[in-house]
Amino acid sequence: MPLVTSKEMLLAAVEGHYAVGAFNANNMEQIQGIINAAVAENAPVILQVSQGAIRYAGLEFAAAMVKTAADLVNVPVVLHLDHGTDFDQNVRCMRAGFTSLMFDGSALPLEENVAITSRVTEIAHIVGVPVEAELGKVLKSTDNVTEEDVLNAMTKPEEAREFVERTKCDSLAIAVGSVHAMRSQAAELNIERVKAIRQMVDIPFVLHGSSGVREESALEAIPYGVAKINVATLLNQAFTTGIKRGLAESPDEVDPRKILIHSRDEVMEAVRHKIRTFGSSGQVTAAGYRTPKKVFSKAELGEAE
Ligand code: G3H
Ligand code: ZN
Repeated sequence: MPLVTSKEMLLAAVEGHYAVGAFNANNMEQIQGIINAAVAENAPVILQVSQGAIRYAGLEFAAAMVKTAADLVNVPVVLHLDHGTDFDQNVRCMRAGFTSLMFDGSALPLEENVAITSRVTEIAHIVGVPVEAELGKVLKSTDNVTEEDVLNAMTKPEEAREFVERTKCDSLAIAVGSVHAMRSQAAELNIERVKAIRQMVDIPFVLHGSSGVREESALEAIPYGVAKINVATLLNQAFTTGIKRGLAESPDEVDPRKILIHSRDEVMEAVRHKIRTFGSSGQVTAAGYRTPKKVFSKAELGEAE
């Protein structure tokens, strides 16, 4: 089916007390692994590309791959810009057909974040495209962050209420204890902070840096409005595990298809696990969508000749 926006998808998730997985992709095999998982689980899915992914694959190329993948299946797929850090990037993605945007002004002074987020929502809403914003800051493990840094960067509930009212953003990335790019699931969310923000703000929340969050902790946050859970690093780990496995099994292989098929399968299994964990498995039927018509089979997509 054609791409859908994240608006209704996330509102349905809040209502149903589950979260939609938002999975980052950089190449065709990652996209196929993610879509295959969503089809196998009959789950709504958000496929997101970062600015780095856009630099790597090219904007039109990335958009075209995700649109094609969505067209071939009957589960709802969103194409989302992840961490767009300027106004122009958001406009370019809107023009390329993205059905969900993010303006990340978390590194800016508050008033600048409010001003640019508001400009993005104003134009995106004209054409029905929802916008995620970020308040507080989800830090990066590669910046050697301390526990104190994470605490100081957390979203402030009262500030969040005012920010959402002023910017009219559709969803809010909240900083509540997760850290980007962690390679093990060691982070605990501050559930009391999630609850406190929920008391002030009723739009869907987005959890960033989720590869590093203990799954039980993420699950605890879902009833308090966390409806979109972003996963990137874990999928990169899965992808490279697949490459290593392929090369270990066939050290002399030179056909990339025979290596990358392992990567696509690893990504698919990792995404299926997350979809089941977040409770979005089977939610397409529950939401009244048709059952899947197509799964990318190995024979169709990967079996090298
Ligand atoms: O925006 C992307 C996510 O927040 C992914 O974070 O790489 O730690 O899973 P992660
Ligand atoms: Zn993020």
